[in-house]
Amino acid sequence: MSAAPRLTGGTGSAPRPARIAVIGAGPGGLYFAALAKQLAPDRELTVFERDGREHESGFGVVFSDETLDGIARADPRVFAAISAEFARWSDIDVRYAGEVRTSGGHGFAALDRNRLRAILQRRCAELAVDVRYRTPAPPVDRLAAEYDLVVAADGIHSGTRAAHPESFRPELDERHCRYMWLATDKVFEAFTFIVERYDFGVLQVHAYPYSATRSTFIVEAAADAWRRAGFEALAAPESARGESDLASVRRCAELLAGHLDGHRLIPDASRWIRFTTVRNASWRHRNVVLLGDAAHSAHFSIGSGTKLALEDALALAAALGEQPTLEGALAAYEAERRPVVESTQRAAQASLEWFETIGRRTGQGVDTFALNLLTRSRRVTYGNLGARDPAFVAAVDATAGGPPGVPPMFRPLKLAALELRNRVVVPPLATFTSPDALPSGFDRAQLTGHALGGAGLVLAGMTAVGPEGRATDHCPGLWSDRQEAAWRELRAAVRAVSDTPVGIQLTHAGRRGATTAPGPDGIGRPLADGWPLIAPSAIPWDPDSPVPHEASEIQLAAVTADFAAAAERAGRAGFDALELQFGHGHLLSTFLSPLTNHRTDHYGGPLAHRLRLPLEVLTAVRAAWPPGRPLLVRVSASDWAPGGTTEDEAVAICRALAGAGADAVDVSTGEVVAHQRPPYGRGYQTPFAELIRTATGLPTVAVGAISGHDDANSVLAAGRADLVAVGRAQLYDPLWTLHAAAEQGHTGPGARWPEPWRAGSRRPPGPNADRVAPRLHLLREPPAPVHRRWSPPLTEE
Ligand SMILES: Cc1cc2nc3c(=O)[nH]c(=O)nc-3n(C[C@H](O)[C@H](O)[C@H](O)COP(=O)(O)OP(=O)(O)OC[C@H]3O[C@@H](n4cnc5c(N)ncnc54)[C@H](O)[C@@H]3O)c2cc1C
Ligand SMILES: Cc1cc2nc3c(=O)[nH]c(=O)nc-3n(C[C@H](O)[C@H](O)[C@H](O)COP(=O)(O)O)c2cc1C
Repeated sequence: MSAAPRLTGGTGSAPRPARIAVIGAGPGGLYFAALAKQLAPDRELTVFERDGREHESGFGVVFSDETLDGIARADPRVFAAISAEFARWSDIDVRYAGEVRTSGGHGFAALDRNRLRAILQRRCAELAVDVRYRTPAPPVDRLAAEYDLVVAADGIHSGTRAAHPESFRPELDERHCRYMWLATDKVFEAFTFIVERYDFGVLQVHAYPYSATRSTFIVEAAADAWRRAGFEALAAPESARGESDLASVRRCAELLAGHLDGHRLIPDASRWIRFTTVRNASWRHRNVVLLGDAAHSAHFSIGSGTKLALEDALALAAALGEQPTLEGALAAYEAERRPVVESTQRAAQASLEWFETIGRRTGQGVDTFALNLLTRSRRVTYGNLGARDPAFVAAVDATAGGPPGVPPMFRPLKLAALELRNRVVVPPLATFTSPDALPSGFDRAQLTGHALGGAGLVLAGMTAVGPEGRATDHCPGLWSDRQEAAWRELRAAVRAVSDTPVGIQLTHAGRRGATTAPGPDGIGRPLADGWPLIAPSAIPWDPDSPVPHEASEIQLAAVTADFAAAAERAGRAGFDALELQFGHGHLLSTFLSPLTNHRTDHYGGPLAHRLRLPLEVLTAVRAAWPPGRPLLVRVSASDWAPGGTTEDEAVAICRALAGAGADAVDVSTGEVVAHQRPPYGRGYQTPFAELIRTATGLPTVAVGAISGHDDANSVLAAGRADLVAVGRAQLYDPLWTLHAAAEQGHTGPGARWPEPWRAGSRRPPGPNADRVAPRLHLLREPPAPVHRRWSPPLTEE
C-alpha cells in the first residue's frame, strides 16, 4: 500500500480503518465484525453474505478450553450466550474391535453450529453491523478500492484467494480419504471414535454430542476401502450439489447400526467429500486480508475450523486496535496467527495421515490402539493422558506387559541375544575429529559420556569400511589393523567404566564422500583434493559436488568384501552391536533409491535389482559378524522428493533386510537427494518406524526430533517402535536418559546411575525449593472428576 492509514486518529476523528468490508458471514466474518465494531463503534462495517440469514449447513462445533478463554474475555456477551447452550463433557470413548476404552480428564464444550451463527448474527445486529444477506460481495478489487480494508472470510473455496494467487500463493492439498458430515439423534455421552473393520476395510467415525438431542457423526474411509465398500457407485446418482447422497447415508446407517442403537443418521447436504488442507504463503494482498478457512484449514479430526476462524477474528480485530498503521496491523495479525495455525496444521497433518493409514494399526490390541489413536497428532502424549486419567494409562501399560509403574522407555528389551536395560538408543553421532582416520580422543570422551548417560544402547558414528568410503576427511575408519587396535582400546576403556552396550555404524559414503567436516552450518563442502567417488550412477549430490564414477562390478565386490572385513574387525574390537548405513544417500542408500540408481545392469532398475548390492553386503556382514550380537540397518524410508522410494518399497526393502539377517531397522529418512523437502517437526519420521514395524514385524528404532521423554514414552507405548533414538538432545545433555528417569521419579534397573555419581541422582533443588505456598482459598474446590459424560439437562427437549 502506498499510504498506510493510521488506525487511531486524534480526539473526534473517525477510527481507522474507518470503512471495512467483510466477505462472508460465517463464524469468522461475523465474529470479526462484532469485535471490530465494539472496539470502534463509529467504524463503518459491511458484511456481504451470498446466502440467506437462515441458510446453514454443519452440525456441531467443539471448542477447547483455550479458545473459550479467548472468547470469554473478548466478548463476554457472546461467551455467555454460547456457553448457556454448551454440551460439556470430559471423556473420549474409543470403540474398536467390539470393545470400548475410555480416557478421561479432557474437557470439551460443543454447540449447534446454527445456534452459534444465530448468536453471532444477533450480536452483530445489536452492534449495528450492516450484514447484507443474499448479497454476493462485489469483486474484491472494487471493494479494495472502496473500503480501507477488506476482510475475506469467504470460506474454504475463497474467491478472494483465487482472485490474487500471485499474492496469496495458495497451496491446496486434497487428501484421498472420503468423509461425510452427518448428524444423529443418538446423543453420545462423550467424544466417540468408532473404528470398525469390515471385509472391505475400515470405517471410522468421529462423533460428539452438541445438544440435548443431537450429535455430529462424521463417517470417514480411506479411498480404497471406500471404493471396495461400493460407496463410489452409490454416490453417483444423488450427488448433485446441495443434495444429500441418501443411498450412502442409508448404507452407513446399516453398517454402523450397532453404534446407533436404533437412532437415525440425519443428513444435511451430506455427501462424500475429500478434505483439502489449505495453506497460503501470504494472507495479505494490499488492503485485503484472509481469515478463517479462506486462509487455512486443519483436518476436522483435531478440532474445528470454526475454532481457528474465531481465533483469527479475535487476533485481527485486536491488531487493528493495537497497531498504528493498517499495514502494521495486517502484518501483526499474520505474524501472531501464522505460527499458531501452522502448529495446528502440523498436528492436523499427523492426525489426518494417521486416519488415512489406520489399516496399519488394526492388528493392535484395544488398549494400545486407543493410546495410539489418542496420541496420533503428537499433541496429546503418554504423559498428558496419564496425568488426566491414570487408570487409562495403567491399563495400557498392563496389557503391554510392562512392569507396573515403569515408564515405557525404561522397559528392557532383548535384541538378538543382547539384553538392553531400556529402550533409549544414542544414534550414530559422528564427531569429525579424525584427520588420521583413527578414532579420536573426542570419540572416546563422547562414547564414554553416553555410555554413562543411561541409554540402553550407544552407537559410535559413521566409520568407513575403506579409505574411499569416508564421508569427510575427518571421519574414522575400520579397514586396518591399526584402526582395529585403536577401536579395541577405546571400547575397553568405555567398558572399564560402564557396562552399557556399545555398537558402531559402518558405512561407505559413496557420492557423499570426500567433503570437509561440517562447518557451523552443519554442511561439509567438497574437498579441493578429494578422492574419487563411486556411486550406482554418475549423478552428483548437487551441482557443486564432483561427479561420481559409476561403480564397476569389481568395485562393488570390493565394497562388499570391505564391509565384511570391517564387521569382523568390529566384532574383534568388542562392539556389542553393528549398524550398517543403508540410508542418508551413502553408497548402499543410493543403490536403493530410484532417484540415484539409474543403472541398467542387474544392480539397477526394479527394486529387486536395486536391492542386490545391499543384500550382498548384508549377507556377507551377517556371516562375518558374531552370531547373537544384534545387526541393525539404518534406512531412509522416504527420499522426500518426487519419484523417490515409496512406502511400499520401504516396506519391501525392510522385509528383504529381515530375510538377509537384519535384527532391527533404524528408520530414518531423507538426505538421499539434495532437493529433498522433508516436513521437519517433532517425531516426523516416527510414522515410518510404525509402518515398517507393523508391516514386517521387524523391531524398529524410531529417530528424528524425538527429544522429550514424554514423546519417547508415547512412541513406545503406542507400539510405533521398539526403541527410540535420541540424537541432538543427548549431545545437549549426555545424561538425558538418567535425567529423564529423575524427572519421572523412576529408579528401577532401567535407569542405573553410575555408582560414583549416585549422590547426584536426584534433581537438585531450585531457588524456590524451600518456598511453601500459603493457603489462598477459604473453600477448596473439589477436584474435577476424571470422567464427565454429557447428560443433557432434563428440561431440554
Ligand atoms: C458440510 C460441512 C460441515 C461442517 N461442519 C462443521 C462442524 O460441525 N463443526 C465445525 O467446527 N466445522 C464444520 N465445518 C467446517 C466449518 O464450516 C469451517 O471451518 C468454518 O465455518 C470456517 O469459518 P469461516 O468463517 O472461515 O468460513 P465459512 O463458515 O465457510 O463462511 C464463509 C461464508 O462466506 C460466504 N461467501 C463465500 N463467498 C462469498 C461471496 N463472494 N460473497 C458473499 N459471501 C460469500 C459463504 O456463503 C459462507 O457463509 C463443516 C464444513 C462443511 C463443508
Ligand atoms: C552431529 C551429528 C552427527 C551425526 N552423525 C551421524 C552418523 O554418523 N551416522 C548417521 O547415520 N547419522 C548421523 N547423524 C544423524 C543422527 O543419527 C540422527 O538420525 C539425527 O540427528 C536425528 O535425530 P535427532 O533429531 O534426535 O538428533 C548425526 C547427527 C548429528 C547431529
